[in-house]
Amino acid sequence: MTFRIVSGTASPELAGATAAALGTGLAACRVERFPDGELRPGVGHLRGADVYVVQSTGPPVNENIMELLLLLDACRRAGAGRVTVVVPYFGYARQDRRGAAGEAVGARVVADTLMAAGAQRLVVVDPHTAALESMCAMPVEMVSAVPTLADALAPSVAEGTVVVAPDLGAVKLAEHYASLLRCPVAVVRKTRVSGARVHAEELIGGVEGRSAIVIDDMVSTGGTIEAAVRVLLAHGAEPGMVVAATHGLLVGGHTPLSGLPLRRLLTTDTVEPAPAPPLPVQVRSVAPLLADTIGRLHRNEPLDDLRIRT
Ligand code: R5P
Repeated sequence: MTFRIVSGTASPELAGATAAALGTGLAACRVERFPDGELRPGVGHLRGADVYVVQSTGPPVNENIMELLLLLDACRRAGAGRVTVVVPYFGYARQDRRGAAGEAVGARVVADTLMAAGAQRLVVVDPHTAALESMCAMPVEMVSAVPTLADALAPSVAEGTVVVAPDLGAVKLAEHYASLLRCPVAVVRKTRVSGARVHAEELIGGVEGRSAIVIDDMVSTGGTIEAAVRVLLAHGAEPGMVVAATHGLLVGGHTPLSGLPLRRLLTTDTVEPAPAPPLPVQVRSVAPLLADTIGRLHRNEPLDDLRIRT
């Protein structure tokens, strides 16, 4: 079975770089848009192929998900032998349970619809929660960009630097960075007040006089990072913190980050870069990681060393 890479319109550069790293090009694909907003994707010859559809579902989230669903259906109807959906950033992953009675579980709905549209296997990079796997009836491969980002951080890590999880949900991620960078971990306890506002309540671990690397799976509005940085400063951490997050969405004008003493944001290309970021941004590509993942899946090889730590 030959393999083919199909790209949606959300991450064409990443998909192209992934295909190039695999020594191939992108399969023919077009996405037509009707005046009323309807999308009509079409793919070329895929009969019998091992197909990998690459599409991040960052902003505009709903538009990108709908396009992905239609692309999956197009691949299935074009006779693909097997369809793997590669979603570098999985939107709605934060809706992994009901926050209150009467709410939906968005991550489950997205997972179900991807399968219904034709996905037989899912690849994601640093999803917000490892619980995504249990929401999917199809096999899920959760790979991590942490080694890529830790590699970029390593040359500037000074003696005494501490890796900070800005909330309890990021502790495993922080431990992964800390093990690669040989640093201790500190944790901020936060409460989310609304979609854009969070309140940091407590710091666990010593940061006084230390440099800090604040890590997270994603930076959306920047509210979580802002709250964590303010707590760190109040506890005597050195200004000039570095932020490392796999998914740098930077939505909503990202004002919370602009007034903070941050040195840089290190992120990846799982989503398109924000046009005018409020701090210096350094981007590391996950294309080599995706290419390695796809190559191994195609050859039926294990992915153990690429997986997230749970
Ligand atoms: C939530 O728990 C996530 O891990 C991130 O901390 C959060 O989604 C980031 O969002 P924002 O930048 O809007 O605070």
